[in-house]
Amino acid sequence: MPHAIVRRTAGVLARSATRHASLAAAAPPRLVLAIETSCDDTAAAVVGSDGAVLSSVVRAQHSLHEGYGGIVPRIASRNHSAQLPGVIAEALSRAGVGVADVHAVAATRGPGLAGSLSVGLNAGKAIAAAAGKPFVGVHHMEAHLLTARLTEGAEAVRFPYLCLLVSGGHSMLVLARGLCDYCRLGETLDDSVGEAFDKVARDLGLGWSVDGRPAQPGAALEACARAGDAARFRLPLPLRRKDGLEGPSCNFSFSGLKTAVRNALLAELKGGAELGAVHAADAQLASDMAAAFQTAAIRHLEERTRRALQWCRDAQWGAAPSCLVVSGGVAGNSALRARLAALAAEDGLQLYAPPPSLCGDQAVMIAHAALERLEGGRLRDEQDSLELTIRPKWPLGVAVTH
Ligand code: KG4
Ligand code: ZN
Repeated sequence: MPHAIVRRTAGVLARSATRHASLAAAAPPRLVLAIETSCDDTAAAVVGSDGAVLSSVVRAQHSLHEGYGGIVPRIASRNHSAQLPGVIAEALSRAGVGVADVHAVAATRGPGLAGSLSVGLNAGKAIAAAAGKPFVGVHHMEAHLLTARLTEGAEAVRFPYLCLLVSGGHSMLVLARGLCDYCRLGETLDDSVGEAFDKVARDLGLGWSVDGRPAQPGAALEACARAGDAARFRLPLPLRRKDGLEGPSCNFSFSGLKTAVRNALLAELKGGAELGAVHAADAQLASDMAAAFQTAAIRHLEERTRRALQWCRDAQWGAAPSCLVVSGGVAGNSALRARLAALAAEDGLQLYAPPPSLCGDQAVMIAHAALERLEGGRLRDEQDSLELTIRPKWPLGVAVTH
């Protein structure tokens, strides 16, 4: 049995329940049981239509993948298969309900790892079929995009809003014009920002932990960067032309930055320590490089977000955004949150970000996305029937250019 980490979101339970109490109608709230298995975390949650999070269980698999330096798909799916029944049972029992008490069952349909998605989707469909409940197939990135409406309130995070979605699989700037109405203003041309954090963390030889507790590599890099001097290395900002001007898009690129880090490390090590063992050989070098990389990556995200806000102000696709939102695993990064809050303030906007525990993957966001569509009357046969299949590659909304 692998070491399993169970995270709970007790603070959010109380907060969101209070925030949404005024929305509760006389009728009892409708409950959704949700399942998330798109990557390496096995998660289930029960959430009510009044916004109350009755339970959230997440079993991470860090210890199984750390030795490989990245997520191994076949290990992830096999472990989901072993863990999911217990995770679902725990989510129901913590919520104090049975399957008969829930109004609908939801599961992540994509995008993500095919084997991992299949385990969760098939379990969700089977439970829904056996219990005679509606089934909702959820887009993982749409769920990240909508999470702040649960945690901060739908009145604060109202459509239209601009969302920077930053995870291990994606980096996107999306104008959310309404429920199910999303315009992608920019996306990554190569690696996602989370992938870049993960690869640099691996080159630096950082363990997947922070203060002795299991953590994702990006969080380990952020912790390492705290003791670093970013000015020690001048890393090139992505997608800059030689004359210093940026290219005319809201797209991202992170693979060149990752390579620049690797080259700078190799030059620094000069045949001494190996890549992958930098931290053990020279902790200060690892911290300085982590800080330099994080600063450049955040600067790039900031530049593109500033441009996207400008595009939105031009109002080609509807009204100017009501606020800026950041979500996805990398949104747990406090340096990024601080820079984006300042950027939003320049435009007189508020930055909203879910609490770090709801930035990474969990099933609360899957339940919430399902509830938004259920309550908004937006279920669709092709996405929400028991015949649906996984979509490992599934674009969110439509791409637009300026
Ligand atoms: O959304 P998420 O949990 O899973 C995907 O949908 O991909 O995002 C995971 C990504 C990983 O690359 C992880 O290293 C990164 O988010 N991450 C962070 C931080 N916490 C997690 N990156 C930078 N700083 C953090 N504090
Ligand atoms: Zn995610």
